[in-house]
Amino acid sequence: MIFKDVKSNLSSVGKEEVKTLVSWIRTREDLALWSGNTFQKGFSAGKMQLHLQRTDLNSFAYLDKRKTLLCYADIARREKKTGVLCRVIVHPEHRRRGVGKAFCRDLLLWAKQYGNYSRIHLNTFGHNKAALACYTALGFKTVSVETKCRRVNGELQDLVVMAANL
Ligand SMILES: CC(C)(COP(=O)(O)OP(=O)(O)OC[C@H]1O[C@@H](n2cnc3c(N)ncnc32)[C@H](O)[C@@H]1OP(=O)(O)O)[C@@H](O)C(=O)NCCC(=O)NCCS
Repeated sequence: MIFKDVKSNLSSVGKEEVKTLVSWIRTREDLALWSGNTFQKGFSAGKMQLHLQRTDLNSFAYLDKRKTLLCYADIARREKKTGVLCRVIVHPEHRRRGVGKAFCRDLLLWAKQYGNYSRIHLNTFGHNKAALACYTALGFKTVSVETKCRRVNGELQDLVVMAANL
């Protein structure tokens, strides 16, 4: 098998990508589904630029043929070999085509090959069927469920913690 250099698929996140990402977050629900409690005081390009300066995380993008943002996510280091896959998002017009799964698979490869991670955790909402299906297909298993603990769009939702060994 030819060794796949995952770095060649993944791009860094600059000002243009941040601008595109911000345009995808139109409602409070979009913000909650994508980023949980991260941007509780509001979301803007400036806040995202500050987020990208966090020293405990690596951020990643997929770009399309025109070099426009197609996906964004980051991995935050929690312990020496444990990371948290966070804030995964696919361009709203390109969902349900396998892009999210391919992107997350590349992120897990990066985490193993370059990030020195052996375990990845993530949090998602119980009603986020797309995210749950995407992560389950990649081998994530549910570790715990906090029932009705976060309000999204006026309704209390479950928070699901998932994990995968690399
Ligand atoms: C979650 C998200 C990243 C998934 O990306 P995607 O490109 O749409 O997903 P894929 O096309 O790769 O599909 C992956 C799996 O999810 C399933 N799926 C995708 N959208 C679905 C939906 N709306 N309902 C149910 N299942 C869905 C697919 O059928 C596929 O399952 P399979 O592997 O069993 O065939 C994308 O929907 C998104 O950006 N959502 C908004 C932000 C968000 O919620 N992020 C998650 C933060 S935890």
